[in-house]
Amino acid sequence: MQVCSNNQQMLDVVSTWKVQGKTIAFVPTMGGLHAGHLSLVHQAKANADKVVVSIFVNPTQFGKDEDFDNYPKTLEQDLTQLEACQVDAVFTPSKEQIYPNGFKSHLKAGSLSQGLCSKSRPGHFDGVVQVVHRLFEIITPDVAIFGQKDYQQLLVIRQMVEALSLPISILSGDIVREQSGLAMSTRNQYLSGDQKELALKLYQVLIQLQQEILKTQDLNVAIHNSKAILSQDFKIEYLSVLDANTLKSITDNTSKIAILCAVFLRSTRLIDNIIFKKG
Ligand code: PAJ
Repeated sequence: MQVCSNNQQMLDVVSTWKVQGKTIAFVPTMGGLHAGHLSLVHQAKANADKVVVSIFVNPTQFGKDEDFDNYPKTLEQDLTQLEACQVDAVFTPSKEQIYPNGFKSHLKAGSLSQGLCSKSRPGHFDGVVQVVHRLFEIITPDVAIFGQKDYQQLLVIRQMVEALSLPISILSGDIVREQSGLAMSTRNQYLSGDQKELALKLYQVLIQLQQEILKTQDLNVAIHNSKAILSQDFKIEYLSVLDANTLKSITDNTSKIAILCAVFLRSTRLIDNIIFKKG
């Protein structure tokens, strides 16, 4: 496994593969790797000849009161896990490599970035789009894999790729969960044992809400009830039930429904979702 800490090394590796006619699958991450990330790596391996994983904690997607400075950094462990998955190359750039001309960018996230996470994290998706576009520029993958865990992010990236006509297929990976049902997240490291017990209630409430929606109960009542249960343990940022393709209200044309949720458990922000076919 080649570890490239600067652009030139990464460009050299990629151009050697391109000369050999190899296809490239790319998994962008911010490190703190867990089984959720690794499932994307396995999917990448199944979809191309070579796999690149990036580890870069991107400053431009964090708000000023967020956890950029404390974001878990576990590089050695990450590299060991990636080596075990037989990843071909890991890109670990510095912020100077990614942003040689400073953080300013003309690239803005599209309409799917409105609402949901953007409400409490203004500018977050602009930062995501900026860094993913830059990584795409350096790695020039054929395929890139994103987790459904960050569902709005997945749609925002798809929208960017379409808007810029980038020749990259975007694939999505299912949410990997702990046995308890809690969605795996790098930020789960912030939770104490007791808080982890409480955190799994989030998924339980989402499943219950899904069942109520499938029974075609009144949507607003069902959401109201779920919020009442959640608010016993969490500070709710949003709990929304939307058309999974447009992130707008459900209509007769809706084929897939998204239940999307962000909550705070003390100071830790948790997000989770369920995407399912309508009736
Ligand atoms: P990060 O949070 O490290 O996540 C990297 C990828 O792993 C994302 O596509 C995310 O959706 C996926 N992922 C996280 N938890 C998962 C889980 N439990 N199951 C399946 N996939 C999971 O998302 C980012 O980094 C950044 O915004 C990034 C795209 C790298 C841009 O900086």
